[in-house]
Amino acid sequence: MKDLSGFVSFILIQLVLTGYVKALYRPVVIWHGMGDTCCNPDSMGKIQEAIKGVLPGIYTYSIMIGEDESGDKKASFFGNINEEVNSVCEKLKNDENLKYGFNAIGFSQGGQFLRAYVQRCNDPPVYNLITFGSPHNGVSDIPGCEANDGWCRLMRTIASQGAYSGYVREHIIQAQYFKDPRRLDIYLKKNIFLPDINNELEVKNETYKKNLMTLNKLVLIRFTEDTTLKPRDTSWFSFYDEEGNIVPLREQNLYKEDWIGLKTLDEAGKIVFKDCEGSHMSIELIYFVDEVVLPYLNNTLKYRKKPLLVIQT
Ligand SMILES: *[C@@H]1O[C@H](CO)[C@@H](O)[C@H](O)[C@H]1NC(C)=O
Ligand SMILES: *[C@@H]1O[C@H](CO)[C@@H](O)[C@H](O)[C@H]1NC(C)=O
Repeated sequence: MKDLSGFVSFILIQLVLTGYVKALYRPVVIWHGMGDTCCNPDSMGKIQEAIKGVLPGIYTYSIMIGEDESGDKKASFFGNINEEVNSVCEKLKNDENLKYGFNAIGFSQGGQFLRAYVQRCNDPPVYNLITFGSPHNGVSDIPGCEANDGWCRLMRTIASQGAYSGYVREHIIQAQYFKDPRRLDIYLKKNIFLPDINNELEVKNETYKKNLMTLNKLVLIRFTEDTTLKPRDTSWFSFYDEEGNIVPLREQNLYKEDWIGLKTLDEAGKIVFKDCEGSHMSIELIYFVDEVVLPYLNNTLKYRKKPLLVIQT
């Protein structure tokens, strides 16, 4: 058996060398955060540039919701995230370049949305999922706004009517991962996204667990000085108890009862908990390259360039 697998990999190497099988970097899909867009040259543009600089020829895809960049920004505040994730499933499935799978990086809320992609669709499949400052276990406060961001201020004004109230819970994206630790019963009843994706409801969706467990690595990056996410440790799946103390992932039922496969992944050494020095979404290029691109994106797909043999009929 051992000899045989050695032989097979010898043949595969020969095929790569002869050009029958081409090695390609696995493509990368990114999903931006709140108030940002797919195509902002100063944020997602720089990220794609950095990846391409290190891994020339790699295919990158930046998720856009809606028809254009301004619609995409608006959709990071207003909409129904379940519908947005569905539309992303459609788009990724229809991109020829992604059909053998990809690595994915989610920034802030884009991180738990990509996790929802993995759990609900994962077709094509994600290999490594990296999330930067993502509120995986919700936030106890709606995130604040940059001074000049009109959509964001409008979002906060509307959300202040109550994150679980009728209109807000279905139309404000941030309400869909808002979690009040003192009112978990209402959260479980009213929040349309997070309780489902974290399998916190009575009826668990086994597909979510099965899909998440197929990841090669789940890399959870926390910003050490994050004041946007309450608590910042939600990026490691920690959350408050009723008294406001932080409960680490490994002490929660979500983990102990393995609702979405995190325990299985962790025990297999497939969850990486990392810190990034600085405030929410301040990422140094050198950190991004050394801690993300080189260890988690430099992996290849192999596919057959030409038919190995053609049988004449
Ligand atoms: C579980 O999730 C899958 C994928 O999204 C979905 O097709 C299925 O209907 C869900 N099952 C239940 C019981 O909700
Ligand atoms: C990517 O990995 C390959 C194989 O391990 C290695 O030879 C190559 O130097 C790496 N690329 C970069 C840019 O470090």
